[in-house]
Amino acid sequence: MEIVVSGIRSTGNLHLGNYYGALRNFIKMQKENKCFFFIADYHSLTTHPDPAMLHVNVKNVLTDYLAAGVDPEISTIYIQSDVPEVTELYLLLNMHAYMGELMKTTSFKEKARKQPENVNAGLLTYPTLMAADILLHKAYKVPVGKDQEQHLEMTRRFARRFNNIYGVEYFPEPTAYNFGSELIKIPGLDGSGKMGKSEGNCIYLGDDPKVIQKKVMRALTDQGPTEMNSPKPDYIENLFTLLNVVSTPDTVEYFNEKWNKCEIRYGDLKKQLAADIIAVTTPIRERIIDIQNDEAYLRKVTKMGAEKARESAAKTVREVREIMGFKPF
Ligand code: TYM
Repeated sequence: MEIVVSGIRSTGNLHLGNYYGALRNFIKMQKENKCFFFIADYHSLTTHPDPAMLHVNVKNVLTDYLAAGVDPEISTIYIQSDVPEVTELYLLLNMHAYMGELMKTTSFKEKARKQPENVNAGLLTYPTLMAADILLHKAYKVPVGKDQEQHLEMTRRFARRFNNIYGVEYFPEPTAYNFGSELIKIPGLDGSGKMGKSEGNCIYLGDDPKVIQKKVMRALTDQGPTEMNSPKPDYIENLFTLLNVVSTPDTVEYFNEKWNKCEIRYGDLKKQLAADIIAVTTPIRERIIDIQNDEAYLRKVTKMGAEKARESAAKTVREVREIMGFKPF
């Protein structure tokens, strides 16, 4: 039984990238481990969300998480800002995080390019806050997609550095919970490399089947291959990557064969892909509809989650303070 921490930023509803990147097989993951799932609302502040939307976004992610199968009786599900201990650990870890390494982080450089008018300190220290989330519960495993690999590497570095500086074996060096395979990157349907909220190319877990069908049918394709066994261009490879995660191996093989023989009909491929995505998302969407207006249930879940998370977090912060030399008079 290992400690697992999983986080999702509250910047929009959960999409297929989140589901397959961080939540794949998580029913099993919850049974076999002590899991903490949280909604990273502090992290969402780096892009200055409208205050009127902050709570709505948290609620949406919470609902999606629960609908996708997080069991609050087995696991701990909480909202990051309900656990103020994280901010203290973040402050303490920041004292050993260096400007140079933070500025070199890929996500920082990307965001600084995308929002040059708002390169704030929160953006720079984003990896420290993420490390605090993970180390707060002394996690060993973190389910993440490929895009978070570097942040996890930095978490390990911060943990190692803390242990070295203070001469302790306190923090474990957490690794990715990879569900027995490579870290995954779910592509967008617009030919882009990644499905992402800020990319505007997502299929959401709560999308109506008609909407999913429309999105899939609009995916970028071409005239089809003209040579047998030719390599697939990126935007076609993307469709196959999605097919790989939602469809049966037989289906993938069937369409691969059609591709190799230059007999592929994109309309058929897309219909199949849409049907298989809908099969995955329909039970989740139905649960979203059930839960989303159940304020009493959501209140109960978040209260229970905050209590459980704070218990674990307070212990860590108390021990970290002691290691660093804080003493009561
Ligand atoms: P976020 O909110 O962007 O994404 C949440 C999780 O979903 C994964 N993911 C993907 N995986 C595969 N393909 C995709 N297209 C895709 N899009 C998103 C992400 O890898 C992630 O696992 N910094 C984090 C949130 C966070 C966190 C943490 C995660 C804050 N503290 C502590 C784990 C532990 C983020 O922005 O993820």
